[in-house]
Amino acid sequence: MTADLFVVEDLTVTLPTGRGPVDVVKNVSFTVGRDDTLGIVGESGSGKSMTALAVLGLLPRGAETSGSIRLEGKELLGRSERELQSIRGNAISMVFQDPLSSLNPYYTVGLQIEEMYRAHRGGSRRDARKVAIEALERVHIPDAGRRIDHYPHQFSGGQRQRIMIAMALCCSPSLLIADEPTTALDVTVQAQILELMAELQSTTGTGMIFITHDLAVISSIAKRVLVMCAGDPVEYGTAEQVFSDPHHDYTRTLLDAVPRIDDEVAS
Ligand SMILES: Nc1ncnc2c1ncn2[C@@H]1O[C@H](COP(=O)(O)OP(=O)(O)OP(=O)(O)O)[C@@H](O)[C@H]1O
Ligand SMILES: [Mg+2]
Repeated sequence: MTADLFVVEDLTVTLPTGRGPVDVVKNVSFTVGRDDTLGIVGESGSGKSMTALAVLGLLPRGAETSGSIRLEGKELLGRSERELQSIRGNAISMVFQDPLSSLNPYYTVGLQIEEMYRAHRGGSRRDARKVAIEALERVHIPDAGRRIDHYPHQFSGGQRQRIMIAMALCCSPSLLIADEPTTALDVTVQAQILELMAELQSTTGTGMIFITHDLAVISSIAKRVLVMCAGDPVEYGTAEQVFSDPHHDYTRTLLDAVPRIDDEVAS
């Protein structure tokens, strides 16, 4: 039996606000196995990003957390900033919504991937450059050996998101968290990125958490689904269970709001 790669138990996140402390994530529990994709879905403000940021130890100042977050059996809650820094980008990596604001416009993409790699793995510039070219090839950037010396603005939106994924995967993380990675992209490019992530998962075995407000995206990529509503976990199960037999009114409402892609294709 293989133990779950990643286990979150009873995670509660409390943020200070002008009106006193507010629980923005309430007793959330889920697991992600190797080769597994968990989709976290819910409307804006439901606590999806706060859940991800808690995992990475990147919550806003003054936030309090309780519960347990374990990667390969090791507790992450309560670790020092220094320890978390060595985990972020290494064992756990994250892809954010907007690649343009996550990439530095003044440095070539190659340099940014190399720095990320060397920060965790050390080694020579030359080795890091090799890793960076391979990483760009893995996400299907054509002519990677030449493109590595280009700046972010010289790539399309979809390519920039591919570059962010390459960067997130360059240290071979056990867990990849993608927070709305396709929201800023048009539908065709979005589909290509989802396909790429599924392909990378099948070759690397990386566990994935995929956060979105879009149930159609979740149904195409996630094996299991957690539905959040105002910080509460309202539904958790296999994608099949949650989509075919939702137990909670909130999930039914979300499902009703999804345009039926199969209907459109059929017509
Ligand atoms: N810095 C902060 N201080 C206080 N409250 C915050 C802060 N950032 C977010 N919140 C609140 O925490 C709650 C959860 O926010 P979160 O960003 O996790 O939502 P989300 O589900 O990711 O939404 P979206 O789909 O819009 O990204 C919201 O009610 C939000 O207003
Ligand atoms: Mg969010």
